Amino acid sequence: MLASPGFFVLMVAVAICRGLRCSNMNTEDELVDGGSEYGSVWPLPQNVRISTVSFKLAGSAFQVVDSKDSTAGSSCSLLQNAYRRYYEYVFGNARNPADARRVTALGAPGLAELQVWITSPDPECDGYPRAASDESYELSVNQTYALLKAPKVWGALRGLETFSQLVYEDEHGAKTINATEISDFPRFAHRGVLLDSSRHFLPIKVILANLEAMAMNKFNVFHWHIVDDPSFPYFSRTFPQLSQQGAYHPYTHVYTPADVKMVIEFARLRGIRVVPEFDTPGHTQSWGKGQKDLLTPCYSGSSPSGTFGPVNPILNTTYDFMSQFFKEISTVFPDEYVHLGGDEVDFNCWRSNPDIQKFMDQQGFGGDYSMLESFYIQKLLDIVATTQKGYVIWQEVFDNGVKLKPDTLIHVWKGNQQQYQEEMAKVTSSGYQTLLSTPWYLNRISYGQDWRGIYKADPQHFNGTEAQKKLVIGGEACLWGEYVDATNLTPRLWPRASAVAERLWSAKDVTDLDDAYRRLSIHRCRMVERGIPAEPLFTSYCPREYRGI
Ligand SMILES: *[C@@H]1O[C@H](CO)[C@@H](O)[C@H](O)[C@H]1NC(C)=O
Ligand SMILES: *[C@@H]1O[C@H](CO)[C@@H](O)[C@H](O)[C@H]1NC(C)=O
Ligand SMILES: *[C@@H]1O[C@H](CO)[C@@H](O)[C@H](O)[C@H]1NC(C)=O
Ligand SMILES: *[C@@H]1O[C@H](CO)[C@@H](O)[C@H](O)[C@H]1NC(C)=O
Repeated sequence: MLASPGFFVLMVAVAICRGLRCSNMNTEDELVDGGSEYGSVWPLPQNVRISTVSFKLAGSAFQVVDSKDSTAGSSCSLLQNAYRRYYEYVFGNARNPADARRVTALGAPGLAELQVWITSPDPECDGYPRAASDESYELSVNQTYALLKAPKVWGALRGLETFSQLVYEDEHGAKTINATEISDFPRFAHRGVLLDSSRHFLPIKVILANLEAMAMNKFNVFHWHIVDDPSFPYFSRTFPQLSQQGAYHPYTHVYTPADVKMVIEFARLRGIRVVPEFDTPGHTQSWGKGQKDLLTPCYSGSSPSGTFGPVNPILNTTYDFMSQFFKEISTVFPDEYVHLGGDEVDFNCWRSNPDIQKFMDQQGFGGDYSMLESFYIQKLLDIVATTQKGYVIWQEVFDNGVKLKPDTLIHVWKGNQQQYQEEMAKVTSSGYQTLLSTPWYLNRISYGQDWRGIYKADPQHFNGTEAQKKLVIGGEACLWGEYVDATNLTPRLWPRASAVAERLWSAKDVTDLDDAYRRLSIHRCRMVERGIPAEPLFTSYCPREYRGI
C-alpha cells in the first residue's frame, strides 16, 4: 500500500508533535468533521451503499424480530439474546427517551422493525462457531423495511453489529438511519485476539468485557494464553495440584471449570471461538510446582543446581501426564483446535543434565538440541492427535523441521517485516496454513498513532503464488501480559486492535488511512459509549465521554 503524499505530510507532522504543540494540530479533527461516505461502520463491509436518504427509527417501539420464513425461531436463544443486546446498544443510552418518542409522534411513523431471516436449514443456534463457519450476511434498510438475511446465526450476529453501527442520532437526539444496502463477509476466517492470563491474572470480568469489544469489531477467535512460566491459573480436574501450587493464589487467582464454561458460552453467544494455549516444553515453570518430575533438573557441574528447565522429554511419565492432561483439555474446550505453543525453548538446562546427554547419545542427536525438542513435540502432537483436535503451533516448531499433520496451523510471530514475510512464504510453500501476528504485538507501545502501522500490515503481502496466499487464513492481535493487568488491558488493546480487525475482515484494497481515521474515531467513541474504555486516537472528544464503571 502506497501512502499518499498528503498522508506522508500528516505523519511527519504527527511525529514532531509533542505535548502542548499538539493542540495546534487539528488537521485530523477536521477530517472527522468531514465524515466518511461510509458513516462510522467498522470494519468496513465488503459491499456497502449508504444513501443520503435518512429516516427515524420508531423510538422505543422499534423491535428486532424473526422473519416469518426464518429457520431460527424464538427457541434460538443465541439470537434472542443478541436482539436484546443490540436493542440495548441502539436505545439503551438514549439521552432523552421522550425526544425519540416525540419525533416519532410528530413525524412519519418511522422504521418499526428489523427482521432477521436465517435461510439455511441448519441455523447452528446451539452449535459452536468453527473455523469454517459462514459469517456472511446481507442487510437492506429503507424507510419501510429493514431486513437482515444470513445463512447461519453467525452471519446474523455480524449483521446485527453492522445495523447497530448504522444508527446515529440527529440534532434532537432521535435515532436515525440512512437507506443502506450491504452484502458482507470476512476476508479471513481466523481473526483473533490473544490475551495472556499468566503474567498477570485477568479477572473474568475483564475477559468478558474484551469478548464484548471483540464482537463490536467482528473478531471471532479468543486465543487464551492461559498459563505460562509465572503462573498456572487453569484449574484442572485431573491435576488440581497444578493450580493449587502454580497459581498466584489457589482460590482467588484461578479459573474454575465454571469460569471457563462461562467464558466459552459468553464467547459462543458472540460468535467467538475460544482456543486455549498450553505452551510446552518451554514456558512451563509454573507447571513444575504442582507436578513432580515434569521439568528437567538443571545441573551445575556434576550436581543438580535446584533449578528446573523445560519439560523433561526423556521420561515416560512426562507423556503419561500429557496424555491425561490433554484428554481433559479436549473435553473442556469444545473448539476443534488447541494451541500447543512450542516457542522459545532454552537448551541450556537440557545441555547441563547428564541423563539428557546420555539420551541424546542413545538417540544419535549429537549436540543438536532442536532434535530433542522435535522428539518431544512429535510425541506431544501424536498424543493430541488422539483427542481428535487440530493444533496450532508457534513458528519455531515448523522451523525446526518437526513432522506435522497436514492440517496444522503455523503461527508466525518472529522477526522484522522482511523476515516475517519470508517466513510466511516458506510456511505456505510447504503447504501449511498460517496465521500472522508479528506486526500485531499490541503490548509494544510507542508515542503517536501506531494504529496506522498496525493497519497497513497485510498478511498476504509476501512473495508467493495465489495458492500460497490462500493458505493464509488470518491473524491475531497479541497482548502479552508482562506489563498488563485489569488496570490497563482494555485501553491498551482498543482501538489499536480495531485496526487489525478491519485488516482481517475488510477487502484487501481498503487501505485509505484518512477514511479509516474518520470511521475509527467514531467507532472508538461508540465503544466508549458502550462501556469499553478504548483510548483516543488523537485530540478530539466523544459526544458521551467515558465515566468509569
Ligand atoms: C445520511 O444521510 C444524511 C442526511 O441526508 C447525510 O447528511 C449523511 O451524509 C448520510 N450518511 C452517509 C454515511 O451517507
Ligand atoms: C424497501 O425494501 C423492500 C425489500 O427490499 C422493498 O420490497 C420495498 O419496495 C422497499 N421500499 C421502498 C419504499 O423503497
Ligand atoms: C518407556 O517406554 C518405552 C516404550 O514404551 C519402553 O521401551 C521403555 O522401557 C520405558 N522406559 C521406562 C524407564 O519405563
Ligand atoms: C519479493 O521479491 C522481490 C525480488 O526478490 C523483492 O525485491 C521484494 O522485496 C520481495 N517482496 C516481499 C514482500 O517480500
